[in-house]
This record gives sequence, structure tokens and C-alpha cells, in this order.
Amino acid sequence: MYSYDTVRKALALQESDIRPMLDYLLKMGTAPTGLNAAYLWEAARFRFIDVLYSDSAAFGDVIYAYEIRDGVVLEEWAATNEFRDFLDACISERAATERVFAALESPALGSSRGWRQTDKSLEMRMPVPSRPQGARQAISCTDEHREMISRLMSEEWWTEDQATNFADVVLGNPQGISKIVVHEDEAKAFAHAMRDSNRAWINAVYVSGVARGQGFGEEVCRAILSELAEQGVAEVFLGVSESNTGAIRMYERLGFRFTSFVRWEFGTVRGVSSEFPAT
Ligand SMILES: CC(C)(COP(=O)(O)OP(=O)(O)OC[C@H]1O[C@@H](n2cnc3c(N)ncnc32)[C@H](O)[C@@H]1OP(=O)(O)O)[C@@H](O)C(=O)NCCC(=O)NCCS
Repeated sequence: MYSYDTVRKALALQESDIRPMLDYLLKMGTAPTGLNAAYLWEAARFRFIDVLYSDSAAFGDVIYAYEIRDGVVLEEWAATNEFRDFLDACISERAATERVFAALESPALGSSRGWRQTDKSLEMRMPVPSRPQGARQAISCTDEHREMISRLMSEEWWTEDQATNFADVVLGNPQGISKIVVHEDEAKAFAHAMRDSNRAWINAVYVSGVARGQGFGEEVCRAILSELAEQGVAEVFLGVSESNTGAIRMYERLGFRFTSFVRWEFGTVRGVSSEFPAT
């Protein structure tokens, strides 16, 4: 049996590891099809990702974990028996103090440990329209928006430190596209995507709580789509929780459709939360 500490890797992932790992995951069908090297680049640099474990040469055991405001989220990318032991070790280590959420490929894995299923993450995809309607208010983020991004992203999901780190990472990602809507010096909406040569993955869309229902989400997504079109990207993907029906309606209005990629989300340890981040 592994202990959490003995298997934990301090984000030792190298740039050169990313492509083979991604190819492996996609071949195994355990990663969303939109996942790209830029996503892993970013994942490896988030300080709040606590574990990114890939011990075998063939990348047979892959897990990453990140902390949200009140718990730790474990993402399973490739399940083997060793992985199952590792998952149990992570959970027992963290169980005393925190809530643990797990996003799993196999619902049986969660049920066999007595966890309660809380939601499903679904993948959506759309071809990037060649002439998307331009967004009028959303602009590209620069360093001067760092504080606004971190304030926005710490409203619900993350602590201030995590959100500050997120802002640093997205602004520094050479393959990242960040858009923001600012009104009267307040950030209303933010979105971020990462791209490969011809695919992109939107990994954050967030509208300030007080500004929802006014079309800012659609606006900021259209700005991302416009820029992707300009850059010649053909397809764009994202992940969304099945329960996030408002977001799903918005994505469908933009032209996104579901693919077959599904992950099951479980709430463990101390009760169940419906606030599992979707991306
Ligand atoms: C999902 C989200 C980005 C939508 O942005 P928005 O600017 O509110 O989008 P819209 O104004 O186009 O409204 C989209 C849907 O949200 C719903 N909505 C409206 N007001 C809302 C509010 N105050 N709170 C939550 N949802 C609301 C509406 O049902 C609307 O759908 P409809 O017009 O078909 O009924 C935004 O609600 C948000 O940031 N939520 C929290 C973070 C999140 O879930 N992000 C998406 C992760 S995949």
C-alpha cells in the first residue's frame, strides 16, 4: 500500500514528458479529446496542483489533484490496480481535515468505495466558425488585469492565493488566450483557452455573481472564439458539469454539442458538494 507522501510528486513534469503522456492518455481513451499539451503545461505549473503522479515509463498511472476552497479534487486519468491503492491512500491521508472530490472514469470505482456520486462532467465540442460574431466589450487580458482576474476567480472556487497563482499561470502561458469584460473598473467576466496547432480547450469561463444573466458569459466566449478563428484553430472543446444547465444552454447557443466523453464525479469523506468546478 502506498502512502500519500511516498508517491507524491512535486510537479516534476518536464516539458518533454507532456507530449508522450498526452498521446498515451488519448490512445487509452482516458483523456478528453480536447485536452492538449498546453493544458498539461498549465497543469504542471499550477502550484495548487498537489500531485501529478506518473510513475511508470508507459505512463500507466496518472493522477492529478488540485485544491479548491474547501477540499481536494482528484482527477483520474488512467486507472490500474496501483492507481486504486494510490487513490485510497490519498483519500485516507486527506480525510481527516478536508473534503475530497474525485472525478473518475469508472463509476464502479467510486461506488465500490462507498462514495456518493454527485454529478457528471461532460465534454462539448464545436468547429470554430470562420467568421464568428465579434464580441464588443471583451478585451485581451494583459498584466494590468492580473488582480482583477484573481479577484474574480476567488469569488467562489478558489482561495485568494490559488486565484493569484491561476492569474500568473494563464497570463504566462504562451499558448493561452485570456479575455476579460471590464465595466466601471470591475471585472464582469473572464474566459481562458489553450491551443495546440489546430485545437483549443476552454478551461475557464466565469462571470461575477452579480453580473450573471446579462449575456457577459456569451460575450467573453465569443471573444475567445474570434481570436481562435483569427489564429486558424479549427475545433474547440470544453468540459461542463451535467447539472450546470445555465452554462450548457449558453454553450449550446454558441454552437457547442456534446461528445461521448463523460466522467463521474463523487463527493467523499465529509458530505457532498454541488460546487464541484466544471473545468
Ligand atoms: C455559466 C455562466 C458563465 C453563464 O454566464 P452568464 O453571463 O450568466 O450567461 P448568460 O447571461 O448568457 O446566461 C446563461 C444562462 O445562465 C442562467 N442564469 C441567468 N442568471 C443567472 C444567475 N444569476 N446565476 C446563475 N445562472 C444564471 C440563465 O438560465 C441563462 O440561460 P437562459 O438564458 O437560457 O435561461 C455564469 O453563470 C457563471 O460564471 N457561472 C459560474 C461559473 C460557471 O459555472 N462557469 C462555467 C463552467 S463550465
